[in-house]
Amino acid sequence: MTLHARLSRSADRDGANTTFLHDVWHGLAQDQKRISPKYLYDERGSELFVDITRTPEYYPTRTELAILEENAGAIAERIPRGAAMIEFGAGASTKARILLRVADIAAYVPVDISGAFLLGEARQLEQDVPGLKVLPVAADFTAPFELPASIADLPRAGFFPGSTLGNFEAHEATAFLRHAATLLGPGARLIIGVDCVKEANVLNEAYDDAAGSTAAFNLNLLSRINRELGGDFDLNGFRHCAFYNREQRRVEMHLVSRVRQKVRIGGRSFDFRRGETIHTENSYKFTLEQFRSVANGAGWQQAEVWLDPERFFSVHMLVCEDARRK
Ligand code: AVI
Repeated sequence: MTLHARLSRSADRDGANTTFLHDVWHGLAQDQKRISPKYLYDERGSELFVDITRTPEYYPTRTELAILEENAGAIAERIPRGAAMIEFGAGASTKARILLRVADIAAYVPVDISGAFLLGEARQLEQDVPGLKVLPVAADFTAPFELPASIADLPRAGFFPGSTLGNFEAHEATAFLRHAATLLGPGARLIIGVDCVKEANVLNEAYDDAAGSTAAFNLNLLSRINRELGGDFDLNGFRHCAFYNREQRRVEMHLVSRVRQKVRIGGRSFDFRRGETIHTENSYKFTLEQFRSVANGAGWQQAEVWLDPERFFSVHMLVCEDARRK
């Protein structure tokens, strides 16, 4: 790496840490203390999330995989031949591979903030799926970004699995779907995984597994603040708490202070009452009708929906409306 690249990389890191510090300061100064769920995913947090997906209680990952496997042929039929598939927040591409095996896809464009990870995965995919062009884009997919010029003339299919949309607040979910519609254009498809409303006890267990993987994932946020921002959180002074809020149709994750305590972060201190919480994540659940109406409001029409037999999880095929008809 050149000196310039090294310097600009460390400047990026400093910039990111400054934003992180200010977001944490701002969030902990609120009446209901909160920290954005995006900060759950440092390297350790991403590993811990993979642990969660392997717990027996966390049904979304294995259920969505089963829906994709079972319906891959039907999903592939609805993707135009020779399309470019654009995956938002690609990660390990496990789910995309199910569709890439059966659909006639000319180019796969994984978009992820972690560029280095994407490059390794891209090379492997090109070897595994002969003839497929893999064109990774390192970007934050929630903000505007450019698609590779070489896919300009191809039909487009977006792919957004994992019910990540559920971690957005309502206005953010609509903004993301609108941004995807603008990026992909009229006639484009969007294949999106959405977690369904269900009995509270299933949800409560899924977000508080017996092995403690979700607790470790949530508490890692405090370790991250200690590591990266010089905080002095005592991890034994907090516990994980997750519950389904039926009115809001969301699972809330909190970190609960076990005692009255003071925590210092980057020269500022924050008081916690015993039992006071930091709200760290919302995971919204949708009925089919409710998701359809969110999609319609953002310029998408539902073409098809696939579910598992228990109706725990849904995979929707949306089609982008022609803006001229509006
Ligand atoms: C990534 N996201 C869809 C997960 C979810 O289910 O909301 C994050 C998660 N948080 C706790 N467990 C899983």
